[in-house]
Amino acid sequence: MSTIHATNPQRKRDAAPAPHTHFTPLQRLLHWTMAVLILTMLFVGVGMVATVSHLHQTLIAIHRPLGIALLILVIVRIGVRLTRGSPPLPRDLPAWQRAGAYASHLALYGLMLAMPLIGWSMLSAGGFPVTLYGPLHLPPIVPRNVELYATLRTLHTVFGLLLFATVLLHLAAALFHGLIRRDGVLSSMARGGR
Ligand code: HEM
Repeated sequence: MSTIHATNPQRKRDAAPAPHTHFTPLQRLLHWTMAVLILTMLFVGVGMVATVSHLHQTLIAIHRPLGIALLILVIVRIGVRLTRGSPPLPRDLPAWQRAGAYASHLALYGLMLAMPLIGWSMLSAGGFPVTLYGPLHLPPIVPRNVELYATLRTLHTVFGLLLFATVLLHLAAALFHGLIRRDGVLSSMARGGR
């Protein structure tokens, strides 16, 4: 009898734990901390290139270490995401919205990883120090090369704009789920739960 139960697929399904409905506290902490830091970085970046006053030095002194902190956070976040997964999307979500969510999340992870790496590489290629705090410097990660510097500098701007656009799209989707569909997707990241 017990053999029948152990091999019965219906019974196995019944015994399987229900999928999570919320992100874990660590995932939520990483998400909201990084959201604030990334928005800060985008505005600090734009402010930095828009001013020739003494503010430029202050903003760049914030931009570099904060960018490296984001690099560490995104590596931790990708590790947590790969091991803990995410709550499933609502079953009735149209296929194109499901594909859009998947593509935009992938783009966000890619851009969050690429931006700090490009920033660090670009300063390395230009022969500039990557100062974290006082005498604390990071080593160069690419060889010194003016042409490479120019390419990476352009890429840092283009990817920054892409990141900004993807963040806005992500925000619009979150509001659509929270205010129009009211399907629990927003609260899976906003509140605690199973
Ligand atoms: C998530 C991480 C990052 C974001 C979102 C970000 C964003 C930006 C943005 C929006 C700009 C202005 C681009 C423009 O208008 O041309 C910028 C410029 C810049 N970023 Fe980043 N950045 C990040 C990481 C880094 C890192 C890690 C470094 C260096 C270690 C760095 C170094 C620079 C430099 C040197 C500039 C140009 C400053 C100037 O020309 O005066 N960035 N960044």
